[in-house]
Amino acid sequence: MPMFLIRLFVLAAALAIAAPAAQAAPAGSPWGDGFFPNLPVTSQDGKTYQFYQDLVKDKIVIINFMFTNCQTVCPLMTSRMAEVRRRLGDRVGKDIFIYSITVDPEHDTQQVLKDYADAFEAGPGWLFLTGKKEDLFAIRAKFGERSLVLSAHRTEAALGNDATGEWTKLSSFEDYEIAVKTVLEMDPVWRATPHHLVIADGTKPHAVGSQAGEALFIKACSSCHSVGGGDRIGPDLKGVVARRKADWLKSLIMTPDAMRAQKDPQTMELMAKFKGVKMPNIGLADNDVADLLSYLEAETKRAGQQAAAGTATPAQTQ
Ligand code: HEC
Repeated sequence: MPMFLIRLFVLAAALAIAAPAAQAAPAGSPWGDGFFPNLPVTSQDGKTYQFYQDLVKDKIVIINFMFTNCQTVCPLMTSRMAEVRRRLGDRVGKDIFIYSITVDPEHDTQQVLKDYADAFEAGPGWLFLTGKKEDLFAIRAKFGERSLVLSAHRTEAALGNDATGEWTKLSSFEDYEIAVKTVLEMDPVWRATPHHLVIADGTKPHAVGSQAGEALFIKACSSCHSVGGGDRIGPDLKGVVARRKADWLKSLIMTPDAMRAQKDPQTMELMAKFKGVKMPNIGLADNDVADLLSYLEAETKRAGQQAAAGTATPAQTQ
């Protein structure tokens, strides 16, 4: 298992003790009004809201903390959140809302958050929020998020229904089907109706085969990249193994932050095209990269065969 996943699991386990448990809240739930501060926050579109009153009260909400300069795991979390959002469909913006709150308001101004939101195709119902440093700190302290070092902030989201007073955590690395179900189960009506999980866009669950690198690609890369399905948050990786030099690919996949720091010309070119999002350094090892490259080669072949047979479908991207 790659180091970053191990670190996340350990972190998630350590934090499990601190958060309110998922259970039906009695009347006068401690997690409602008076618990969450009613401080002003500003969205990527420049609207100002009172945090509890306007954004949390009576709603199902997913709340995470991020910063746009993050070079490690948060862009991956945000891209995975984008996928959960896509699968929740048009309930997001109606009764389910997603809030990504910056922990770095000095850098993450409204305009910076706007570019970031656009890069992740945030759409309605997903607000990126900034505000005064002390206000944001007061808000995140209520979610058990008190880290002073930016890179130490938590990687899972809080999920709650203010109307029922239920709060739990949503892991960024849960399978998408499970994540979507966890969110929908916050709705007592949905919970009371027996049904199979209907994924908003009808995407079928994909059985992970024995191809090396596939499971890792699905978890860590596919929320930004397709293989043959066109550019998404990052470039289409079809044919990338033939197109680029092996050493360059390895360096970019393992240490994209170092490639940016060195101003590597090809990385600069890609960055200019994929504005707002930075390919994350998630602490992959040599053998992870070898597996990923062999997966990319195999998928490229598969995508080519489908195109030739006239049955082109985007390579599975979940
Ligand atoms: C949060 C989104 C995101 C995630 C997750 C992500 N990437 Fe990227 N990737 C990008 C972006 C954006 C670029 C373009 C360079 C840049 O702007 O940093 C890129 C560039 C690349 C390139 C160069 C493509 C080319 O045309 O030369 C490769 C290869 C690549 N990524 C592989 C991966 C692999 C493998 C993973 C999973 C371990 C991964 N990426 C995870 C966003 C992402």
